[in-house]
Amino acid sequence: MKLVLMGLPGAGKGTQAEKIVEKYHIPHISTGDMFRAAIKNGTELGLKAKSYMDKGDLVPDEVTNGIVRDRLAEDDAKDGFLLDGFPRTVDQAKELENILRDLGTELDAVININVDQDVLIERLAGRFICPTCGKTYHTVFNPPKVEGICDLDGSKLYQREDDKRETVENRLAVNLKQTKPLLDFYKETGKLHNINGEQDIDVVFTEVDEILASF
Ligand code: AP5
Ligand code: MG
Repeated sequence: MKLVLMGLPGAGKGTQAEKIVEKYHIPHISTGDMFRAAIKNGTELGLKAKSYMDKGDLVPDEVTNGIVRDRLAEDDAKDGFLLDGFPRTVDQAKELENILRDLGTELDAVININVDQDVLIERLAGRFICPTCGKTYHTVFNPPKVEGICDLDGSKLYQREDDKRETVENRLAVNLKQTKPLLDFYKETGKLHNINGEQDIDVVFTEVDEILASF
């Protein structure tokens, strides 16, 4: 199964990705997670990405496309993958077509999670993440059993740098601008599925899973 998961910041891409990869055993490829790991490890990629991410701007295509091309060529992505947060522009979508053509394959489906902007701001403000296993929580909508502590490994949860209010506003504006043309691009391919993301996390997953079950 070869999938793209789309949605504005906070729509629930990472949350649904956790459930999809657990059930379907495909690698979760999140460009945002790859950039954050590179920043944490102080690599050249991290240095390039940091200034853009701190402002909520998109990392330039020549950087982003390259890491996706390399990652999709790895062995574990041969039989399936879940791309989270890539592509984000029509140019990236076209480059993804090229990458997959070079690998002799194509996408099965693009799933777009729809959520209203006001809801997104509330979601990002309450998001906490485990630094060890990456599990995502929300203080109200998806709280851990013990406040501030990961259910799975007991690590102390943290908030993302780019979830500060000023950065969130720019992230939303930047992503909103790109979304409509990208949705139009995928609508034309006949592979686009829209999901109402303003439902309980498990209800959203049930709807996603109904689509995936057909592949
Ligand atoms: P990235 O890490 O991809 O961030 P994003 O797109 O802004 O999306 P988020 O990760 O913030 O949200 P999400 O949809 O995963 O929501 P989540 O499941 O966590 O990218 C970060 C940056 O990297 C970009 O700004 C850019 O600079 C750069 N970048 C990345 N990819 C790039 C690309 N392709 N090109 C260029 N630059 C790129 O959920 C959010 C919260 O809501 C959580 O607390 C969760 O518990 C809660 N929640 C989830 N679902 C529900 C629900 N149904 N009901 C209630 N609460 C819910
Ligand atoms: Mg995410």
